[in-house]
Amino acid sequence: MTTFDFVDYPLEQVHRLLEPGPVIMVSTFDGRRANLMTNGFNMPVAHGALIGLILGPWDHSYDALRTTGECVIAIPSIDLAERVVDVGNVSGREVDKWQRFGFTPAPGAVVRAPLVTECFANIECTVADDRLVDDHGLWILKGERAWIDPGRRGTGEFHHRGDGTFSGNATTLDLRRRMTKWRYLTHD
Ligand SMILES: Cc1cc2nc3c(=O)[nH]c(=O)nc-3n(C[C@H](O)[C@H](O)[C@H](O)COP(=O)(O)O)c2cc1C
Repeated sequence: MTTFDFVDYPLEQVHRLLEPGPVIMVSTFDGRRANLMTNGFNMPVAHGALIGLILGPWDHSYDALRTTGECVIAIPSIDLAERVVDVGNVSGREVDKWQRFGFTPAPGAVVRAPLVTECFANIECTVADDRLVDDHGLWILKGERAWIDPGRRGTGEFHHRGDGTFSGNATTLDLRRRMTKWRYLTHD
């Protein structure tokens, strides 16, 4: 038997070991006001712009997503990290977060929730499947239209490590040539 140096890791912290999707903001419009919230639990579910998003009933945004079936996923670059965390500390029930944190709404093409001008990419989404929302707060969204400003991408998105620390993408490892079975994924 080989020896090893593993020690117990708390099960309630395993999410810190899995790469989360980037920290994003979710923009919604409830028919009266647009709102913004911060989200770290998200992932692609399938090619064809199916996206899994955890958004729970403790969030004011939940009601707007339920009612309208629409939202925008806005992807901030790391220079916006502090303001993006601030957006996740207060609720749209009490505060106009666009105004307080200096984000600017812009109309999209498909959904009524606004794009976030300061973010380098925005994905207009509709709800494709809400069967796991009651049990897990898991929404399956379908991207309907996506926008990017490549000039503002900078070092790109950033990730929440689950404990209030964040990592960026300063080093990019280009292994496209090794993706021999998945060549088609490596093209622009
Ligand atoms: C870094 C960070 C990540 C977060 N990730 C999530 C998440 O994945 N899902 C979620 O429902 N709330 C998440 N939150 C909490 C919401 O952003 C927070 O509850 C927010 O106040 C909701 O705003 P609202 O009430 O205006 O919708 C996160 C907050 C921070 C700061």
